[in-house]
Amino acid sequence: MNRRTLLTAATGIVLTQEGGLWRSARAEPLGPWRMAAANTTADPRLRAAGWAVLAPNAHNRQPWLMRMEGADSMALFFDLDRRLPETDPFDRQGLMSLGGFLELFRLALLEQGLDATITPFPEGEPQPRLDRRPVARVTLRAGGRPDPLFAAVPARRSAKAPYDATRPVTDAQLAALRAAMLAPEGFGAETRDIGRIRDIAWRAWMVEAEDDAAWMESVNLMRFGSAAVTAQPDGISLWGPELDPMIAAGQLTPSGMVRGQPGWQFGVARYRAIFEGTNAFIWQVTRGNSRAEQLAAGRDWLRLNLAATAQGLAVQPVSQALQEFPAMAGPYREIQELLGRGGTVQMLARLGHPVRAAAPTPRWRHESRIVAG
Ligand SMILES: Cc1cc2nc3c(=O)[nH]c(=O)nc-3n(C[C@H](O)[C@H](O)[C@H](O)COP(=O)(O)O)c2cc1C
Repeated sequence: MNRRTLLTAATGIVLTQEGGLWRSARAEPLGPWRMAAANTTADPRLRAAGWAVLAPNAHNRQPWLMRMEGADSMALFFDLDRRLPETDPFDRQGLMSLGGFLELFRLALLEQGLDATITPFPEGEPQPRLDRRPVARVTLRAGGRPDPLFAAVPARRSAKAPYDATRPVTDAQLAALRAAMLAPEGFGAETRDIGRIRDIAWRAWMVEAEDDAAWMESVNLMRFGSAAVTAQPDGISLWGPELDPMIAAGQLTPSGMVRGQPGWQFGVARYRAIFEGTNAFIWQVTRGNSRAEQLAAGRDWLRLNLAATAQGLAVQPVSQALQEFPAMAGPYREIQELLGRGGTVQMLARLGHPVRAAAPTPRWRHESRIVAG
């Protein structure tokens, strides 16, 4: 079967060519979650790509671009149009997002009995920002064995809600998380004395909320309602049976999200409750802060997120204190001194028992993230 798909952002219509006939269908923002398992394409790279787009990534920007090379390689690029220039001025979070994509791509190859040789930055490490050079080259080889973490992929979420503060995370659960990492020495966790971490993380959250350039970067990525989410299944999706009617009634608008306005106040109150509904934090530290270390930290974040899911736990990154824009300098220094052990904290996240299951977030289909050679 000759099958090609093409997605047009403006209309949200997917055109699928099957047996020479073009068919159209509404794009489904959650379609990739369902289609990954059903993808029986012969090319193992395309099957892996269908899974890899489900990776966690900063602001759901999905900044990955793939170029298939020859019969058995894939070059991974950072989409320079999907930067977060205000809150991620050096593309560090963007690169961690590509790390998660890469690790999920590899796990999906292992499921197919293949393995991958991953070469980070085959043409050199870009500094101070990412550029058009590949972030990694992946070459397939035989001999992969499935990783048990893969079973958690469909249920993995970043759960943005208060957790059950009455149920402690156990040391055995933390040990399982650490054991899932490629670089377990980078793992940090606190389940008892969390006051100082929470205080820094919350103040950092407010620094971002009160910095107009940083805050508006998020507002500009908000998709208001199901039609907008369908047209652009990325960014911050405000949709569903609860929010769609509010949006239609004009109660939830971009202008209402501006600092001091009701939407902004709602966001502040929501996050205050989220930080209060937290009784454990985890973090990742790298010895240096090279591009290769940032990429590797992103790979391990995916593994930590999957291990937490397998343990019945929820996670949510709280990245504000780790952001490198000038107004954040105070909390940044505080969190690095408190948790960094002389290295660099790459990820800070809440960890806990979910009160209810979180919904999946939208994705662009993998076909739309492949560039021609
Ligand atoms: C490097 C990185 C930083 C992130 N920072 C935050 C954050 O500060 N706050 C937050 O709520 N989620 C954060 N996330 C989670 C993303 O918002 C989430 O992965 C994305 O919306 C997709 O949703 P999903 O993980 O549930 O599939 C981060 C994820 C990554 C990989």
